[in-house]
Amino acid sequence: MKSSEIRDKFSRFFESKGHKTLPGSSLVPTDPTVLLTLAGMLQFKPVFLGQEKPAHKRAATVQKCMRMNDIENVGVTPRHHTFFEMLGNFSFGDYFKKEAIQFAWELLTKEFKIPALKLKIAIYEKDDEAFEIWRKNIGLPKEIIYRLGEDNNFWSVGPTGPCGPCSEIYYDQGPAKGCGKPDCAPGCDCDRYLEIWNLVFISYNRNEKGELIPLKQKGIDTGLGLERIASVLQGVDDNFETDLFQPLIKAIDALKAESSPVSVRIIADHIRAVTHLISDGVFPANMGRGYVLRRLIRRAISHGKRLGITKPFLFDLSRVVVREMKDAYPQLAEKEKTIVAAIKEEEDNFFATLEQGMKWFAEAVKAHEQDKFLPGAEAFKLHDTYGFPIELTVELCLEKGLKVDLAGFEKEMEAQRERARQGHQAEKKTDLTSLDLSPFSPTNFTGYEKTAEETKVVGVFAAQKIVVLEKTPFYGESGGQIGDTGLLSWNKHEVRVLNTFISPKGVALHVVDDLSGLKPETKVRAVIDVSKRKTTEAHHTATHLLHRALRDLLGEHVKQAGSYVGPDKLRFDFSHFHSLSSEDLQKVEQVVNQKIAEKLKVEVLRKSYKAAQAMGATALFGEKYGDQVRVLKAGNYSLELCGGTHVRSTADILFFKIISESALGSGVRRIEAIAGQSAKVYAVFRAKSLRDEVESLIRKYRLLQVEKERLGGQKSLETNIFEIEVTELENIAKAVDNHDSNNVNKFLDHLLGRVDWLKERIAKAEREIEALKERAAQRSAGGYAAEAVEIGGVKVLFKEFKENNMDLLRTISDTLQEQFKSSILVFASVFPGRLIYLISVTPDLTGKFSAQTLANAFSAVVDGKGGGKDTKVEGGGKDPSKIKEGFEAVRKLIG
Ligand code: ALA
Repeated sequence: MKSSEIRDKFSRFFESKGHKTLPGSSLVPTDPTVLLTLAGMLQFKPVFLGQEKPAHKRAATVQKCMRMNDIENVGVTPRHHTFFEMLGNFSFGDYFKKEAIQFAWELLTKEFKIPALKLKIAIYEKDDEAFEIWRKNIGLPKEIIYRLGEDNNFWSVGPTGPCGPCSEIYYDQGPAKGCGKPDCAPGCDCDRYLEIWNLVFISYNRNEKGELIPLKQKGIDTGLGLERIASVLQGVDDNFETDLFQPLIKAIDALKAESSPVSVRIIADHIRAVTHLISDGVFPANMGRGYVLRRLIRRAISHGKRLGITKPFLFDLSRVVVREMKDAYPQLAEKEKTIVAAIKEEEDNFFATLEQGMKWFAEAVKAHEQDKFLPGAEAFKLHDTYGFPIELTVELCLEKGLKVDLAGFEKEMEAQRERARQGHQAEKKTDLTSLDLSPFSPTNFTGYEKTAEETKVVGVFAAQKIVVLEKTPFYGESGGQIGDTGLLSWNKHEVRVLNTFISPKGVALHVVDDLSGLKPETKVRAVIDVSKRKTTEAHHTATHLLHRALRDLLGEHVKQAGSYVGPDKLRFDFSHFHSLSSEDLQKVEQVVNQKIAEKLKVEVLRKSYKAAQAMGATALFGEKYGDQVRVLKAGNYSLELCGGTHVRSTADILFFKIISESALGSGVRRIEAIAGQSAKVYAVFRAKSLRDEVESLIRKYRLLQVEKERLGGQKSLETNIFEIEVTELENIAKAVDNHDSNNVNKFLDHLLGRVDWLKERIAKAEREIEALKERAAQRSAGGYAAEAVEIGGVKVLFKEFKENNMDLLRTISDTLQEQFKSSILVFASVFPGRLIYLISVTPDLTGKFSAQTLANAFSAVVDGKGGGKDTKVEGGGKDPSKIKEGFEAVRKLIG
């Protein structure tokens, strides 16, 4: 049965059972918390949660899916993929377990005619109801119904969201395919039992706290893997041998110069994913989905290299995918040109550096062969200079038996981010008190209206590099607002204004980088740095809105006690006696953003001080005002005396975000906030760096799972749910554009929650790994016991290890001491240029032998030293070649 027929039969079968066939969704989900569509149910998540009404109570789809968690297995096993198709039937508050099980059984055994004897069932261990249905309604013997734990048979779409117990149907490929272990059964990692269909009984919503909240309406979500059922129905025991892959495999075989079946299969898998991702609008990038795509392309290319393919080839293969799949996915044909071009571009770029990168990699491997460890700086270089995704480096290293210093790599990445963060900010401080300003009258400031001015120099202080102008658009630092910077130009000269101050009498002092011949009477054009001024103005008007919002929320006792208004941020100090709760801060933020959204007109009124007071304008405590004052009015919201410069409409503030709240002294609080473009950038940047963190934690978690598996542990199936990606940056950007700070905060909190959640999981995995290592060490201790010898009636064991791990030596020593009761153990572990050792003597023997004496003899031979007690000494040495002689020296002392 061809795969196209399988898709059809599936749809028609469920139509005959009252289901509506619906189109599958894009690989790019609308759900903002998920990176890629990982299951058929994703597009129905709101329906399962009862947030949306279903158009149909029963539905069926063919859904393209992507999961990256099994990427190491792709091509190595017959059944793992990144991209795959999931056939699913769904019930939204309609039928439940019984019908779901009956439908699945009928389709498999009647329509697809799979012999019932080949099928095995797994259920969630506590699900007696499912057990009874398989047992009574379907009539299966209880021996083939396996009860498995939560890891296997409780399915969740992610850390939060719809979930429930599930029942899986396995196809038994026969013992020849299996691992042969006596306990091999459905759920075993080997190839014997092929999980083909997962029936999920959606029953709960898992909330942010991890609690399971029963859903009012239960549902059914199933997933039948197309590639796997095709392999069963086509009588091959390998997905790559089905009609879904064969045309691709043939095309790759025709290109290759060298043989590596795994590489061929990896390329065949990845090109399907790549083609579909681009057709769904994803393009190569350094983060998010774009990064997944980039990784796949680069990984495929590096496998192309292993096949001896010497020029770009992937772009051409995508045409095969389009040809083979366009009937099922017509948009592939429409997007073919884009797909081919996007791959070609990425391929051309990477091909150019791959070769050099591989050379460089080979050298790095040679240099670190001995210690079997690739330093983070080298992994970073491969990433930064040669475009090797870290996963690729890890994989290449694994083949060479090297571990990658991932912590070091992350450190380099962080350092790079930090470098990007640090702008060049040189605040120049000048002592103004020494200047004699008596010859000057107050400078005419034209900068409320203008950003440039034709003017002339009236005075110069050469030593301080200060220029006084007749009139100026430069705002001199005052009222918390920083001084302007910009340029003075004349003839063909130009000097930079680094800062502007204003003297108590109103003389504007322009600090320049170079006087360059400026002298009184020189005619200059004075131009301020407009973009800096603009963001400063956004912060200034925002400060007024903040002031008003705080008084409205907390009371009229709130008085400004100081402020800083610059292009980078605003700081507002005010009288208040308690810290603000996070709800208060959110409220303040939301009000200010509301005022931004209202696009209030900002205008300046010139009034007498009395009139201004009568209007209710806020004046600053302790500030002296002249008879005429400037009153800054923002709509009917804020009225404040102010000499600073401001935006014309609150809309120009763009966005407002509080970044901190703290105590400045008793009764004075400080709020720091940002507005304008920098607030937008901040929100998105914060999200980005949190997301970077999440991504690196996910990587770490995955690697730990691989390590766990290597040590003989069970790889946690939780890895599935890591496809759940974090809030997409576009959503944050959108919320920012809508002045919706509540939503921005929600998204950021979501990201922070994710970071915590991952850290917890990582800590758990690390504990599990420790336990596995300990167990492994104890197991091996059993084996070493037989190697002990008797010397003068004492049990003694000399043993050499390879691992650089004192903990291991300790565990083995403890285990053996326990077993022998009375013994002397002499352990050493050797690596290039160095060794560590551990000598232990059970307490009953310390009267005759001291571990310290033995250790001294050993140290003397291996150029080492150690420390400890009579019962135990741990130490190190510099000459591993003398280890046998060292053992001999100890042996002589024992007898
Ligand atoms: N949503 C279920 C799965 O992905 C069917 O296994």
